[in-house]
Amino acid sequence: MPRRLLLILCLLVPITAAAQSFAPAGWDAGLPLAEVPDLNPDPTIVEVNLTAKLADVEVSPGKRVHAWTYNGAIPGPLIKTRVGDRLIVHFKNELKEPSTVHWHGIRLPIEMDGVPGISQPEVQQGESFTYDFIVRDAGLYWYHPHVMSAAQVGFGLYGGLLVEDPNDGVGVADQVTLVLSDIGFDNKGVLEPADSGGSAGMVFGREGDYVLVNGRTDPVLRARPGAPQRWRIANMAKSRFFYLDLEGQPFTVIGADGGLQEYSVTTDILLVTPGERVDVIVAPKGKAGTPLTLRAMLYNRGYGSVQYRAVEDIMTVEFTDQPPITAAPVKVSRPLPVPTAEGATPVDVVLTLPPMENSKSEFRVNGVPFWKAKPFLAKLGETQLWIVNNESEWDHPFHLHGFFFQVIDDKGQPVRPLAWKDTVNVPMKTTVRLLVTFDERPGEWMFHCHILDHADGGLMGTVLVGPVAPTGHVHPKPPPR
Ligand code: C2O
Ligand code: CU
Repeated sequence: MPRRLLLILCLLVPITAAAQSFAPAGWDAGLPLAEVPDLNPDPTIVEVNLTAKLADVEVSPGKRVHAWTYNGAIPGPLIKTRVGDRLIVHFKNELKEPSTVHWHGIRLPIEMDGVPGISQPEVQQGESFTYDFIVRDAGLYWYHPHVMSAAQVGFGLYGGLLVEDPNDGVGVADQVTLVLSDIGFDNKGVLEPADSGGSAGMVFGREGDYVLVNGRTDPVLRARPGAPQRWRIANMAKSRFFYLDLEGQPFTVIGADGGLQEYSVTTDILLVTPGERVDVIVAPKGKAGTPLTLRAMLYNRGYGSVQYRAVEDIMTVEFTDQPPITAAPVKVSRPLPVPTAEGATPVDVVLTLPPMENSKSEFRVNGVPFWKAKPFLAKLGETQLWIVNNESEWDHPFHLHGFFFQVIDDKGQPVRPLAWKDTVNVPMKTTVRLLVTFDERPGEWMFHCHILDHADGGLMGTVLVGPVAPTGHVHPKPPPR
């Protein structure tokens, strides 16, 4: 073999040298995620049972809530797959209400998207539905119902879907998934009603009083000083924003919703809005006996989100007395396609909150709430530039089903580092531009604000990706609450 060719072949071999673990034994035992057995012996198929049911769940010592759960836990089990696997989920609904499972961020066929009345019928009490699809993209995704979403997610129905790429080259062995959420309940463990606060509650987006990391208040994570840890973070709260601070220590952001990003960036404060995921490396510095606190800082997402509110402690990092490590900074790179807005079809998406009528508020997209909306249209293969103009005085984490998008600046240039996104915050009185190619998979796909009270309050719509005949259905109004 010519030497030159041999050299090239060597360069192509992925570096699979196992990364070294530094974390102390049981470092993440304080924040375990429920697991679910894989029933299928085929190594490329993950097959699990997922049952929605009521259960008593302890979220902090002595504090129990009678919650809605997947398999009895909050969050539901972390489903672990490898990129390219087939995932089969036997979903059973043992709730008294209809439900479905939506696979947030996954590029799947419309029949598996979990939207009642659009991609499948509601799964009634006692009924089952089997979801079956390939996980094409590495990253952290999640699942939740798409029936009365604000209520059902707020009551505890959500869980993570981790799609790992063993050759992602990140090289950090100590990895933990952190599911951020909240829940509201009284001293008898009874859930706060989904309509609490009426229209004002809807407009604000209801937040629960108990802030949870992997279903627990203020859990402890242990670390060897200076050793790198990979945190896969997802915000599954129905409304709460997480603006994370680790006492000023840096987060190295290596990935976003749809896997690794173009290159890593370092930040001291990290905003994770509902629906979003971030992949970060932290190498916390400190010493035994002096723990660090991960805090949720105040972030102004609209009136009432900073006034009279306190910073929240959400997780404690305790150090071992092992000698500190000086780790080389983690660098990742992923050659993502550089998008161009040239030739893309512009689509205006205007988000408003008109003054109350009959003491009721509704959010609107292009002048209409979801229940009066007609689908947007897109051709198969078409690239569209969605100009999302938020005229309201509330931030809206904007989410599109089934397709990733890239964020484009006001000069038509992509925002760097490039990243695949399925949810992006559109701050109040601001315009955000998204470039999306409806590359395949015809069907009617949802978009909505991931403050789920806003979605149920009208801020939702669909895009009909052709060639499919419009179904002519009228979008249902959520049941009066
Ligand atoms: Cu998590 Cu319709 O979305
Ligand atoms: Cu919103």
